[in-house]
Amino acid sequence: MNSKKVSHQQEYWDEVAEEKEFPTPFPLAEFKKHIPPEMNILDVGCGYGRTLNELHKNDFKNLKGVDFSEKMINRGLRLHPHLNLIKNNGDDLPFSDNSFDVVLLIGVLTSNIQNEKQEELISEISRVLKDNGILYISDFLLNDDERNLKRYEKFEDEYGIYGIFELPEGVILRHHTKKHILKLTEDYKKLYLENTVFNTMNGHKSNGFYYIGKKIVK
Ligand SMILES: C[S@@+](CC[C@H](N)C(=O)[O-])C[C@H]1O[C@@H](n2cnc3c(N)ncnc32)[C@H](O)[C@@H]1O
Repeated sequence: MNSKKVSHQQEYWDEVAEEKEFPTPFPLAEFKKHIPPEMNILDVGCGYGRTLNELHKNDFKNLKGVDFSEKMINRGLRLHPHLNLIKNNGDDLPFSDNSFDVVLLIGVLTSNIQNEKQEELISEISRVLKDNGILYISDFLLNDDERNLKRYEKFEDEYGIYGIFELPEGVILRHHTKKHILKLTEDYKKLYLENTVFNTMNGHKSNGFYYIGKKIVK
């Protein structure tokens, strides 16, 4: 694996921070079934704060976001000055253990392509989540159309995982099996898992999922 390319992903998100629109919908009605508005919510990889802002408009007020791209954070604060957004890379969240009721992880696994990195992110999220806290994830699943099959095959040898691919614009992304997502979240009790088809940030369609799980008390 080309670790130089992998470690340059933060620069990519800074470069596109002002131009990308993230179109994946947020299933607010389902979310509200599990999460009352007084709960405190952390959005990891919050981008320019679009989901937190949607929650804010819908009576959730106890909201924080972190993102490793300073430019995404700056755009978010400019668009939504009422939000609490800070720069952080998710490896070492600046919060104490058991401090959040809910953590959101939306379209972040896709650009943290290595299994170990994804496991570290989930483990750090579990640290800051309270017992019985809720983890909400939405992300991309494998597709079976020709365009995707070609790129999964092209990059499988380089990255050692089927589903990882590079885009010419410089980002490395991963589409996942559902089995992988269930393995990543094995310390959670699954409350909701729904397949969907997303529009991507580059105007294509991709399989995706919505997941809600509850942290299992050990
Ligand atoms: C596809 S965007 C999604 C943004 C936001 N969650 C949304 O759905 O609108 C992915 C975001 O995750 C951020 N990101 C990726 N890996 C990260 C990490 N390890 N720690 C913090 N932020 C990360 C990127 O900077 C980018 O803003």
